[in-house]
Amino acid sequence: MGKNPCEVWKTDSLVKTYLESVRGGIPFAAQQIEIMLRLAGAAGNGKPARFMDIGCGDGVLSASMLARFPEAKGVLVDFSEPMLVQARARLAGHASGLEFVTADYGQPAWHAPFEDGSFDLIVSGYSIHHQPDERKRSLYREIFNLLSPGGLFVNIEHVSSPSEWVERNFEELFVDSMYAFARSRGAEKSREQVSKEFYNRPDKDANILAPVELQCEWLRACGFRDVDCCFKVFELAVFGGRKP
Ligand SMILES: C[S@@+](CC[C@H](N)C(=O)[O-])C[C@H]1O[C@@H](n2cnc3c(N)ncnc32)[C@H](O)[C@@H]1O
Repeated sequence: MGKNPCEVWKTDSLVKTYLESVRGGIPFAAQQIEIMLRLAGAAGNGKPARFMDIGCGDGVLSASMLARFPEAKGVLVDFSEPMLVQARARLAGHASGLEFVTADYGQPAWHAPFEDGSFDLIVSGYSIHHQPDERKRSLYREIFNLLSPGGLFVNIEHVSSPSEWVERNFEELFVDSMYAFARSRGAEKSREQVSKEFYNRPDKDANILAPVELQCEWLRACGFRDVDCCFKVFELAVFGGRKP
C-alpha cells in the first residue's frame, strides 16, 4: 500500500509553507473565524468552558477562541509534531488551561482518552477533508458523542464544488488572494508563480472534498440540530450544528 497522502502534514517543509505563505492568504479567513466565534458565543450559556480543536495546526482557531473567551479550557489535537510545536509556542500564554494531544483522528480509537459529553464546543479548521467520506461521517458521530447537551460543533472547511466551472472560479479567487498576501508581505513573486505553486501544492493529493449540503445531512443524521452552512464562498464553508 502507498503512503497515506495526509502524512505530508508531518513534514517541516509543508508546515512552514502553510503557516508562512498560505494560512494568512485564505480568502475571507477573518470572516470565517468571526462566524465561528459568533456561534460559540450564542451556544450554551454564551461562554464555552471546555473546547476541542481538531486538526489544530498552529492553534489559529484556539487562539481566536481564547482571545474572545479567555477563561475557556481547551484540548488541541493534531498528528503533526511540527504543527504542535508551533501551537505550543503560539499559545504559551494560556498553557495552564490547554492540553496538546498527538492523535490521528483517522483512527477510530483517537477519542478514547476523552469522556463523552465533556466538551461544550468542538471546532475544526481545514482538516477533516483529509478523511474518506465514511470516516468523516464516523468522526462526526464521535464529535456528537464528545459534546455535552447543547454543545456546538463548527467546521471551517474546504468542501467540493458542484462543477468544474465553479471549481475554476474558486481556484482563481484563491490564487488572487494568495498573490495579494504574498505582495503584502513584500514577496517578489509574480501571479503566475503563485498560481503555479498553488496548482502544484504538495498537500493537494491529501484532499478528499465532499459537498457541504451532504455533510450537513450527515450531521443531521448524527442527531445534530440547527445544522446550517452559515458562511460559504465557493469551496470555503463554515458549517455545523448543536447537540440537543
Ligand atoms: C490545513 S491544516 C489546518 C490547521 C488549522 N486548523 C488551521 O485552521 O489553519 C490541517 C491540519 O490538520 C492536521 N491533520 C490532518 N489529518 C489529521 C489526522 N488524521 N489527525 C490529526 N490531525 C490531522 C494536520 O497535521 C494539520 O495541522
